[in-house]
Amino acid sequence: MQKKRTFKNLMITGGCGFIGSNFIRFLLDESDFNGRIVNIDKLTYAGNPLSLNDIEQNYPKRYHFIRGDICNRKQMDTIFKSHEIDGVCHFAAESHVDRSIQSPDPFIQSNIYGTYTLLETARNHADQLTLFHHISTDEVFGSLNDSGYFTENSPYQPNSPYSASKASSDHFVRAYGETYNLPVTISNCSNNFGPYQFPEKLIPLMILNALENKPLPLYGDGKNVRDWLYVTDHCHAIWTVMCASNLGETFIIGGDAEKQNKEVVENICEILDRLVPLNGNQYRSLITYVSDRPGHDHRYAIDCTKLKQTLEWRPQETFKSGLEKTVQWYLDNKEWIDQVRTGAYQEWIRKHYYSASGF
Ligand code: NAD
Ligand code: TYD
Repeated sequence: MQKKRTFKNLMITGGCGFIGSNFIRFLLDESDFNGRIVNIDKLTYAGNPLSLNDIEQNYPKRYHFIRGDICNRKQMDTIFKSHEIDGVCHFAAESHVDRSIQSPDPFIQSNIYGTYTLLETARNHADQLTLFHHISTDEVFGSLNDSGYFTENSPYQPNSPYSASKASSDHFVRAYGETYNLPVTISNCSNNFGPYQFPEKLIPLMILNALENKPLPLYGDGKNVRDWLYVTDHCHAIWTVMCASNLGETFIIGGDAEKQNKEVVENICEILDRLVPLNGNQYRSLITYVSDRPGHDHRYAIDCTKLKQTLEWRPQETFKSGLEKTVQWYLDNKEWIDQVRTGAYQEWIRKHYYSASGF
């Protein structure tokens, strides 16, 4: 195992999104990291600085937020220089497959051009950089039949504009490692779930729709399979890779928790039936089958033996314990949900972060 890496000034891109905000919380509250975090986020519809309100208050010296766009080279250069960035953990991306089908353009911009811009910035400041870690997805490997698993050696076969844009960004990161000797690592993870996830993704959408007595739309026959990992376990895996892997390595990350979508939604309904029973009815009666997503990948499944064996990572949550925590979090955090559901968080952003750069 590589000697443990440390960071003084860690740039986290996309830190106001779902996984990024959980990662910042994990680093400051639960890990051995003792440096400063510079969170760069454009605050798109998916970026919510309110998710880190408490962190901003609890760590005024160690947490710094800048509203920034990874496509803006000048801004990235200034931040690298003025904050003496020595590590990057790059989450910032457009992340929703359905949106990429409707409108691929922002995916090309942020996921491909944005990653390229960040890599160029890192290359320009390579003398001060210990690591550029790129966060990616298992979706770059395409779709599996009913058997087999993705590994680090699986061929890239992206099927959606989202996964194609992430695949492209992975290739650029790898190429900058090979061509310019940039110190890079990559991780490709399966579907995450947990607190602060924007309710366009399956699990939070179903929880919130159920609580409002709205239909629970399953695409196609509901039998598509995803592997699920609780977000804090993903954060722990990322930190392990960042601190202890060899440069140039890729790790695939998963939760050993393959589920059909209908099973996931039924599990959510069962938890809600217990915690907030409906009058004389069951939440599963809200399930409706709707038209399938075009190019809908059938199955994702992960073999993360490499991560387990070489870096001794293990997930702490099972799918069941993680789902229970997640549903409870959405029940306990009505203020966050109301802000997201009503769009009030965007009004707050407009008031607090209006800037001359055109945001
Ligand atoms: P998210 O959509 O919740 O958050 C993305 C964040 O990036 C937002 O805060 C957004 O404002 C910011 N952002 C977007 N474009 C930007 C730009 N040009 N400049 C600066 N900031 C920008 O996404 P997430 O679910 O937290 O995913 C984070 C990363 O993890 C993505 O790279 C995604 O591909 C990857 N990933 C996600 C999952 C998952 O299940 N959610 C699984 C594996 C990998
Ligand atoms: P999603 O959360 O969008 O993640 P991804 O597409 O990146 O895997 O979707 C997870 C699965 O749930 C996917 O197979 C599509 C399906 N799905 C539905 O059936 N209904 C929905 O309303 C959504 C958002 C997703």
